[in-house]
Amino acid sequence: MTAPTSQRPVMLTGGAGYIGSHTCVALHEAGHPVVVVDDFSNSHPRVLDRIETISGVRPSLERGDVLDTAWLCSVFERHDPAAVIHLAGVKAVGESVANPIKYFDINIGGSISLMKAMQAHRQQVGRLSPLVFSSTATVYGEPSRVPITEDFPLTFESPYAHTKLVVEQMLGAVGRSESSWKVAVLRYFNPVGAHRSGLIGEDPSGTPNNLMPFVSQVAVGRQAHLNVFGDDYPTIDGTGVRDYLHVMDLAEGHVRATQALMDGCDSFTVNLGTGIGHSVLQVVKAFEAACGKPIPYRIAARRPGDVAAYFADPGKAHKLLGWQARRDLGQMCSDAWAWQSLNPKGYREQE
Ligand SMILES: NC(=O)c1ccc[n+]([C@@H]2O[C@H](COP(=O)([O-])OP(=O)(O)OC[C@H]3O[C@@H](n4cnc5c(N)ncnc54)[C@H](O)[C@@H]3O)[C@@H](O)[C@H]2O)c1
Repeated sequence: MTAPTSQRPVMLTGGAGYIGSHTCVALHEAGHPVVVVDDFSNSHPRVLDRIETISGVRPSLERGDVLDTAWLCSVFERHDPAAVIHLAGVKAVGESVANPIKYFDINIGGSISLMKAMQAHRQQVGRLSPLVFSSTATVYGEPSRVPITEDFPLTFESPYAHTKLVVEQMLGAVGRSESSWKVAVLRYFNPVGAHRSGLIGEDPSGTPNNLMPFVSQVAVGRQAHLNVFGDDYPTIDGTGVRDYLHVMDLAEGHVRATQALMDGCDSFTVNLGTGIGHSVLQVVKAFEAACGKPIPYRIAARRPGDVAAYFADPGKAHKLLGWQARRDLGQMCSDAWAWQSLNPKGYREQE
């Protein structure tokens, strides 16, 4: 599909990353031109070729750091975006504990820089683009029960989650100061999988922090076995239960949220999850079925801070946006496997 070129684009910060690249494809599918803003600090320029192969449209690229407000202002001038989706940031919980200043700088500083650039652009063109912000379910800390609704108490267990909560609060404050700020806060649960083509997917640098990329790397022989942290939780098989969400469902959630704001909806906060919890061993079994190989695993000690079960009540997103996750665990695993088996070394394959 070719998007009409006269249309103002959607600006996608972090658009070359895992969630950004899938969101770019979903925006193209919905007919929106996209400008990707990314410094490639955790992604590869080759992803743009892959997006073009999938959707037949190449997003515009602005390569740079969102912390550079003057440069970001020039990006707004060049593209005059109809909406902004802010995904650029750093996301490793463990690294955030070791290096909190980096997380405060990029995640909070980057969001402040973006808001300043949006405000400066508004002074020039007389209107403010709506903003979609990628937050996380980790702002619920250790919830007292499941499923989790948006009105649960908010807290943080790591500097990473702290940065997301601070940005949520800052966005709330600017919205209260001026009603022209239209903001959607999306709290993601556990995005996994890949586009069904296997051309784009999650490409972690170093050892993966998350379950599905780790399992994929075991299947492809890059890791010897999976460590399962704890098998004595009060869950179906003793292993931790999470709300795994297909990344294309998540991407389509961004399109719905963007469209809702562009259509005049007031600011909102929603969970994006399936509402269904799967245990680590259920994921392992589903992945074995998808790839046709055994996934060797060892039971290890529980990790501090891990909770037994964590899943969303996605009812508000359904009611407000008409959005619902459509892809099941089997598809998450088969699409993740398509990506991993076609690209065992990720985007760096040909280097
Ligand atoms: N993947 C998850 O499990 C998950 C869960 C909840 C929330 N999130 C949030 O979603 C967003 C996207 O996550 P992802 O998994 O796609 O991560 P990712 O690392 O794949 O993508 C982030 C992108 O932002 C870019 N970037 C980082 N700092 C930048 C800067 N200063 N200027 C310009 N570009 C910069 C990176 O190069 C990368 O392409 C992040 O904000 C993350 O915190 C992710």
